[in-house]
Amino acid sequence: MSPSSLSPEELSERIGKAEQHYQDLSRRNLQLDMTRGKPSPEQLDLSDTMLSIVDGSNCKGDDGTDYRNYGIGTGIPEAKALFAKFMDVSTDEIIIGGNASLTMMYDAFVGGLLFGMPGSTGPWREQGGIKFICPVPGYDRHFAICERLGFEMINVDMGDDGPDMDAVETLVADDAAIKGIWCVPKYSNPTGATYSDEIAGRLATMKTAAPDFRIFWDNAYTVHHLGDGPDRVANILELCKETGNPDRPLMFGSTSKVTHAGSGVAMMAASVANIKDAAEKLFYSTIGPDKINQLRHVRFFGDLDGLLAHMEKQAASIAPKFSAVDAALEKNLAGKGLATWTKPRGGYFVSVDVLDDCAAEIIDLAGKAGVKLTPAGATFPYGKDPKDSNIRLAPTMPSVYEIEQAMEVFCACVELVCVRKLRESEAPE
Ligand SMILES: Cc1ncc(COP(=O)(O)O)c(C=O)c1O
Repeated sequence: MSPSSLSPEELSERIGKAEQHYQDLSRRNLQLDMTRGKPSPEQLDLSDTMLSIVDGSNCKGDDGTDYRNYGIGTGIPEAKALFAKFMDVSTDEIIIGGNASLTMMYDAFVGGLLFGMPGSTGPWREQGGIKFICPVPGYDRHFAICERLGFEMINVDMGDDGPDMDAVETLVADDAAIKGIWCVPKYSNPTGATYSDEIAGRLATMKTAAPDFRIFWDNAYTVHHLGDGPDRVANILELCKETGNPDRPLMFGSTSKVTHAGSGVAMMAASVANIKDAAEKLFYSTIGPDKINQLRHVRFFGDLDGLLAHMEKQAASIAPKFSAVDAALEKNLAGKGLATWTKPRGGYFVSVDVLDDCAAEIIDLAGKAGVKLTPAGATFPYGKDPKDSNIRLAPTMPSVYEIEQAMEVFCACVELVCVRKLRESEAPE
């Protein structure tokens, strides 16, 4: 029976049982961590042959260039050929960078601030009061870049198929200080949502007051399905070209959660004008990326089919973990009216929405019982979840057994805190 339909006495009895359950679980002295979306050791092992695939005898490119040396600032041609297919662009629309797409995103922001972008009337910093649209819940590191660099963040709700476009269109139509929007178009962090063609089309077509508005299209999970075959996302660059806004999107990707998260290959794809602009900016910060690592990746995958086959192994490794999370949520919380949760088809997270004003307390209680969760508010700009209701679960790193244990604690905390909250809200003034 739903707790909200219980009498005060029944509610108290329910809370008593939940408290007892929580105490019992606390005595297990667990030490489990579901905070960050890191690949597990088993996932990392899948790419270990990559480490020995290039040595002194085979470290030259197809044209004989020695990749141990300086040069080729925008990436080796072999990697451009492979990752252009991965990003669905042509080889003159991509830069292959270092190991982190986040660095490329940060650099793009800094470049906009200091020098402007193609289409800018000047550097963004000279305009003052610059803003960025942040679909919420979203990725904490995106918001951290905005906060660090002084962008005011504007929350827009994230739905099952992308951001609330009515809100986005209204905001960008009149305000030239809004310089862009964050998008994780496929298996979004944290909700797992995939953008529909309609939403992608509206992003490409919408009128923006800023002539240099940018869609930061962070396709971090583009090949990360969980076993039922990949979702399909529109090619935002092609859509923007068709609608006369070719310079609007900057697309990012990486192999961080394909091969080794600490030594993958990152990339940015965009119009030729944007790529030329980014390459000019890059010239001052590097005499070339880690080309040996790029070559390792090319040799390891062979081609795009090789990469996709590799991702089937990743899916086989992590899908049971997502199933374990869902099974626990279904078993312990379904039909109780205390929480809703996503059932992602890919990506790295499950997003749980609990009753308002409960998330921080649940995370705190779980931590005290030995289960570390992503801090409350992390999925919102400035770390402030206005409803204090969203919790991000990251199931990839722990084992299935650990997840089962962690989820028992998590669900017990949801039950305890939310039922207490219901009693509070029903208590006479
Ligand atoms: C949406 C999103 N973008 C980017 C990253 C980081 O990517 P990289 O390792 O390429 O910097 C993550 C990591 O969790 C992510 O979730």
